[in-house]
Formats: sequence, C-alpha cells, structure tokens
Amino acid sequence: MQVQGVDYRTVTLVGHTVRMINQPLIPYRFELVDLPTHRHTAQAIRDMVVRGAGAIGAAAGYGMAQVALEAPEGAGFAAYVCEGAATLRATRPTAQDLFYAVARVQGAIDGAGSVPAARRAAVEAAQALADENAAAGEAIGRIGAERIPDGARVLTHCNAGWLAFVDWGSALAPIYCAARSGKRVSVYVDETRPRSQGARLTAWELEGEGIPHVVIADNAAGYLMQRGMVDLVIVGADRVAANGDIANKIGTYEKALCAADSGVPFYVAAPWSTVDPACPDGSRIPIEERDPDEVLLLTGLDPEGRPVSIQHAHAGARALNPAFDITPARLIQAIITERGIYAPGELPLGPLQT
Ligand code: MRU
Repeated sequence: MQVQGVDYRTVTLVGHTVRMINQPLIPYRFELVDLPTHRHTAQAIRDMVVRGAGAIGAAAGYGMAQVALEAPEGAGFAAYVCEGAATLRATRPTAQDLFYAVARVQGAIDGAGSVPAARRAAVEAAQALADENAAAGEAIGRIGAERIPDGARVLTHCNAGWLAFVDWGSALAPIYCAARSGKRVSVYVDETRPRSQGARLTAWELEGEGIPHVVIADNAAGYLMQRGMVDLVIVGADRVAANGDIANKIGTYEKALCAADSGVPFYVAAPWSTVDPACPDGSRIPIEERDPDEVLLLTGLDPEGRPVSIQHAHAGARALNPAFDITPARLIQAIITERGIYAPGELPLGPLQT
C-alpha cells in the first residue's frame, strides 16, 4: 500500500536488519524503525511496535532469518537457533501466525545440509512467508469483495488492514477491493480500547484509501446494528480453531452477539496461516493479558502536538486487560480466506495446512 505516493510493506528484511513501520507513532507520525538483531525484533513484537497477526508472523519469520544469520558457525549453531526460536515464540501468545512462521523457518534451517545453506534457507523461507502473506491479503480482498454490495455500510473492529499484515490486510482488504471496483462503501470503525487500533490505525488506513468512515466508541456498535445502520460486519482473527471458533481483539465477541441479535451478517477474514488445526476449539486458544496501564492511561497528543499519557481512573485504580476474546463459530456467517469462503465448521483442514 502507499503512504504519500510511496509503496510500503509493514515489515521487510534489509540485509541482516528487520525494518518495520513504527506503528505506535501512527497517526501522528510515519517512521520506519531498524532492528539489527533477532532480540531487537522480539522486543518490537512484544512492545507492539509491530502488531496484527499477519505482521507479527512476518516479523517473527524475519526474526528467525536474523537468528540463522547471527548464529555462530559450528557446534553452537543448532543451540543458538533453538534459543532464538524460543525467544520469538515467547513474545506474544495468541496470534497463530507467529508460531506458524517460527516453525516454518526453523524447519527450513533444520532441513539444510550446512550452516551456509541453513542461513540461505532461512532468509528464503522468511521472504516466502512475507510474500505469501501479502498475496493472501490480495486474494482475500478479491474473494471477500463479492460479499460487499454497492452502498454497503460495514462495521469493523480493531485493525485488520495492511498494517496488520505485510500488505493488503484481511478484514479491510475486501473493503479496499470493493471500493477500488467502484462500489460505494462506508465503514464504522470501532475505536477499540484500550490500544485504539481502530481509531488510530484503521481510520488512518481508510483515510489513505479515500474510503468514507466514522470512528465510533466501542459501546456504540450494538445500537447502530439495532437501528439497521450496519449491513455487515467484517473482522480479522488472531487464531482460528479447527471447529471455526476464532480469537480476535477484545470486544469482537460482543460485536458478534449484537450482529446475531440484529440479523447482521458477521464475517471473519483470515489467511490460512492463522488457522491452527491442532487447536480443537476456542477454549484452547491462549489469551494474552497485557499491562493494566494500557487501560488506566490514555495516550495521545497535547494541544501543542507533544505525546502525552494521562491517568483517567482514580490514582489507585486497578485494571484487568485481556487483549483478545473468543467468538464461537455459531455466531460467524463465514470465514473468508485466500482459498475461498467457508462456513466456520467446514474449513478443509489437514493436508492443506503447510
Ligand atoms: O494486539 P494486536 O494489535 O496485535 O491485535 C490485532 C487484532 O486483534 C487484529 O484485529 C487481528 O490481528 C486480526 S487481523 C491480523
């Protein structure tokens, strides 16, 4: 996607360095950040400098390439690779793409016959992952756009656009394709507290694409659906279980319940790398708990444009901050993937998963 006429991918590998868009600065500033080692890349994933399942996966894949490039020649190579993989896996627990990427690059390293071949294989596998991620987003866009009628008012939660992937995105890709094909589409953007990915990232992306949108408080979505103001909901997913239950940003489950009550179709868009065939149902998906300060502090710019954090509960307030929730398959109309659109209970699993 383009920012001020320049093509960007959310995360890339430049030599031994992982380069990524510094997402916490958006929408205030657009900057890239360079991460010289896999430990820097792991820290950036943990701190949500890069976030969104697909982008985390691509960053972890490139992080594994850094591991192979950094590892010492000889006896210590294999141990360094195992330790690097463990460091990357420990960054965030919910997004399946992260585990998929680490396993796939580690498999490429293990299958190479020598250290130089392993370094080459790691870089190639990480690059292939990133390219597949971008291609999957484009295909999801093309396939999903069929479900968006002309004039549709779409509601989305969190950010599942190109910033959450290498390019294109999942939930926003069908909206981009529908709009580019000439359909009139407008979007209700859930603010998505506590990290405000909707207000900060989704709204910024839609503005860049020239797509009409309004940011709504998270609590407003049910009211809008009840009043007949929403034609369909599309969200992304951080993990899809074998039975079609999904984990996505906290608050997604409530939107699905409201959609079911109001008869609004509720779609999930996700690439195959997000499907976890080893996970039988949503109750087995690990849910990340993040720092309570994300709930207790509001961050933004002061009137002079300087970044500020303000406390908005009483000084001693405690908070609970689960980052994801589970939406059961029964509330999902269909899952839009790069391989087609499936009823959630009918995902073709098994040999298709690479
Ligand atoms: O905590 P984040 O910002 O990494 O979570 C992002 C989301 O939950 C997105 O909606 C999700 O990743 C689905 S699309 C990749």
